[in-house]
Amino acid sequence: MFLLLFFASTAKAQPGRTFDIRKYGGKADGRTDISMALTNAFKDACASPTPSKVLIPKGKFTLGQVSLKGPCKAAVEVQVQGTLVSKTDKVIPHSSWVAFQYIDQFTLSGGGMFEGQGPKAWGACGLNSYCKHLPINLRFDFITNGMVRDVTSKDSKQFHVNVLGCKNLTFLHFTISAPDHSINTDGIHIGRSSGINILESNIATGDDCVSIGDGSEQILISKVTCGPGHGISVGSLGKYQNEAPVIGVTVRNCTISGTSNGVRIKTWPASYPGTVSNMHFEDIIMNNVSNPVLIDQVYCPWNECNAKLPSRVKISNVTIKNIRGTSASPVAVKLACSSGIPCQGVEIADIDLTYTGKEAPKAVSECSNIRPRIFGKQNPPACGSPTTSN
Ligand SMILES: *[C@@H]1O[C@H](CO)[C@@H](O)[C@H](O)[C@H]1NC(C)=O
Ligand SMILES: *[C@@H]1O[C@H](CO)[C@@H](O)[C@H](O)[C@H]1NC(C)=O
Ligand SMILES: *[C@@H]1O[C@H](CO)[C@@H](O)[C@H](O)[C@H]1NC(C)=O
Ligand SMILES: *[C@@H]1O[C@H](CO)[C@@H](O)[C@H](O)[C@H]1NC(C)=O
Repeated sequence: MFLLLFFASTAKAQPGRTFDIRKYGGKADGRTDISMALTNAFKDACASPTPSKVLIPKGKFTLGQVSLKGPCKAAVEVQVQGTLVSKTDKVIPHSSWVAFQYIDQFTLSGGGMFEGQGPKAWGACGLNSYCKHLPINLRFDFITNGMVRDVTSKDSKQFHVNVLGCKNLTFLHFTISAPDHSINTDGIHIGRSSGINILESNIATGDDCVSIGDGSEQILISKVTCGPGHGISVGSLGKYQNEAPVIGVTVRNCTISGTSNGVRIKTWPASYPGTVSNMHFEDIIMNNVSNPVLIDQVYCPWNECNAKLPSRVKISNVTIKNIRGTSASPVAVKLACSSGIPCQGVEIADIDLTYTGKEAPKAVSECSNIRPRIFGKQNPPACGSPTTSN
């Protein structure tokens, strides 16, 4: 139903004028930085009173850091057919490589690639703070009614994609590609946004495939493959004051392979208050995932917190349904809720996860501060079941 609507609407939105970056001095010669050509082509497209298109044709183009900013007079499509290669000299910290900002009815398409040249940066990425300041491949800030389809983000220096303040933005046939040893390269990070869909996409990276931060509402992740990476994660939450609730995240019909986590919700102990509700994890295949299902309310990496005080983030209305496959660790399902605010309204149905390790233990589940309602098959036995080990 949704897809039908979507195809009908794209068929109708035929762009009027095309602004080809070659007309603005853009050259695929491996030397010319097309920053100015792209910025100027976008400016003209943005000023067009009828829907328009910026074209980056086939070929390999060098691109420095750019911000393409609306508001625009009409719908704008940026069609990337070629490969954009990030310029590596003079990286501005705290920033992005390519940012799209304040645009309504925006489309990024074309089958092309954003090549972030990450390997040149990851090597030096031993210090955490240095990594945090590397540019993000693609930033979407305050985009409304947007579509990102048929493009690839490769080897970002930091996060591949950051979504901030967006409403109704869909990623379709989007590809993220980076090796598992790339540091802090989250696939798509979403914050303070609503109506974000990630559909039929493929995410392989060194950190979370998708991470969902505070203020995210109505997030749908469907038919996505994830791995390598750290899985699909809500949080971490509770570390900062005044975080907005996370409401309505659905992960459905996905395959997660060789990752350190499958689906997880993580909140800091000794935290500020927060809310996570209406989470639905359904119809997911896990292939050799270390922590396939994980609620971790004592998330405290590098001992940066007082783990003795409970998290004050309230988690409620969670369904975990039809999760099948293999776990690379014996604890296939771990639900560690806050001792201060137990998880509420959690439903677990049809779990079938086996431990891949050769040595003894079968898969188990571990639960604390939670009393889920349990339906259907439970392998491993769910928390509270009489057969639960330990
Ligand atoms: C969401 O954005 C798409 C364009 O990508 C548009 O076709 C659709 O109508 C928008 N949906 C709503 C509810 O505004
Ligand atoms: C997703 O749904 C399709 C169609 O219903 C099905 O063929 C496919 O196996 C599903 N994938 C997963 C991972 O559940
Ligand atoms: C499963 O994952 C573990 C840990 O990540 C890894 O050591 C092992 O080689 C993987 N097994 C398979 C069959 O991929
Ligand atoms: C949780 O679900 C119940 C029953 O569907 C509903 O009444 C309640 O409002 C939900 N809570 C939240 C925080 O959404």
